Amino acid sequence: MSEADRVLSNFTQQVKEERRYSEKKLRIGIIGTGWIAEAHVESYLKQPDVQIVAMADLIPGKAEKFAASYGVTDCNFYPDHKSMLGNEQLDAVSVCTYNTQHAVCTIDALNHGVNVLLEKPMSATVEEAADIIRAEKKSGKLLSIGFQPRMDANMQQIKKIVESGVLGKIYYIQTGGGRRRGIPNSTFIEKKTAGIGALGDIGCYSLDMVLNAIGYPKPLTASGYTSNYFGTSTKYQKPEDAARFDVDDFAAAFIRLEGDIILDFRISWAMHLDTPGDTVILGTEGALRIPSTECWNGTVGGPMKLYHDIAGEQVETLIPIIEDDESGLFDKKIRSFLDAIIFKLPAPVPSEQILYNQAIINAIGDSSEKGREVEVYIPEI
Ligand SMILES: NC(=O)c1ccc[n+]([C@@H]2O[C@H](COP(=O)([O-])OP(=O)(O)OC[C@H]3O[C@@H](n4cnc5c(N)ncnc54)[C@H](O)[C@@H]3O)[C@@H](O)[C@H]2O)c1
Repeated sequence: MSEADRVLSNFTQQVKEERRYSEKKLRIGIIGTGWIAEAHVESYLKQPDVQIVAMADLIPGKAEKFAASYGVTDCNFYPDHKSMLGNEQLDAVSVCTYNTQHAVCTIDALNHGVNVLLEKPMSATVEEAADIIRAEKKSGKLLSIGFQPRMDANMQQIKKIVESGVLGKIYYIQTGGGRRRGIPNSTFIEKKTAGIGALGDIGCYSLDMVLNAIGYPKPLTASGYTSNYFGTSTKYQKPEDAARFDVDDFAAAFIRLEGDIILDFRISWAMHLDTPGDTVILGTEGALRIPSTECWNGTVGGPMKLYHDIAGEQVETLIPIIEDDESGLFDKKIRSFLDAIIFKLPAPVPSEQILYNQAIINAIGDSSEKGREVEVYIPEI
């Protein structure tokens, strides 16, 4: 081992030794054992200070089968979240249900004094998001919303660039994302389970990417449009899926934010185009272009470009991608939630920010229905 490697390995070891865990194992429950619960359980199983003690799912036998596939033993199973919360002493739950069950499961867990990691989008309606925050405040427990792209070093870089002041006063943002064909199936395409379509599923990521960077200013008005030409068409969907599809698969909006900022937004699960465009943040001193990913999932699609002037010359600075293990984002989401509980830290993704995200999503739907611009409704907490 070279001298440099020896010094480096000491350093790595030292960092590892500094990681602190809970002295007692945290008792975790999983509400909803569908697709995303897999990522939660895989990450929890990597944590030494966690024990998954309970799982609930409305579909008989699903939680049992799910637990067995991960070799999770010493776990109790329940037919719904209420019976689980009523019978278990839990430190935390992951709410991994479809969107229309987010509010009831989260509120009930908080009312039982249990900390909650709630999957995105926060809820199906902005009223539900407000009810969740009221329960959170009353309970004094920790609630974090599951936006794992926030854990990505490239996302954090966007915020750092904005906060550095290099863009000057920001006045216009274009954001969104799309998939040429990428309509999910199962519970995502019906109002009764999902509540909202592409807007809630991937639109919330685009909004969070830029709103988090600029400090989540209050949204004021929205002129929105939604459609579902692809989701309801048997040309692009299996007949049985087209028949039950009743959410949006495309949305566009023009949103005014406090501070004289305009947000130009579009999102799509399916269209005849690869992407509706990169994310662009325009300021008085510079602009940032953030390449979109082909199949939009809320992450940075390539090196970002900063456009600015130096000594009167127009220059461009390429900001290389910071290589981050993408599967590690979920581990970071889980670990940051656990750390916030153990060390009494602020929520990694605070509900009060995501209330504005949800308010914009709902205002876009509302405006689309009314066919005109609307004020963004934000309930009093
Ligand atoms: N963070 C991410 O990257 C990511 C990715 C995919 C999905 N999601 C989010 O995760 C959530 C779930 O998605 P999914 O694909 O796993 O859905 P899913 O339909 O596969 O699974 C949801 C499960 O929850 C169960 N359920 C519903 N209400 C319940 C209740 N009250 N008690 C117990 N179980 C209940 C259902 O029976 C179902 O098995 C959605 O909100 C989605 O937006 C997040």
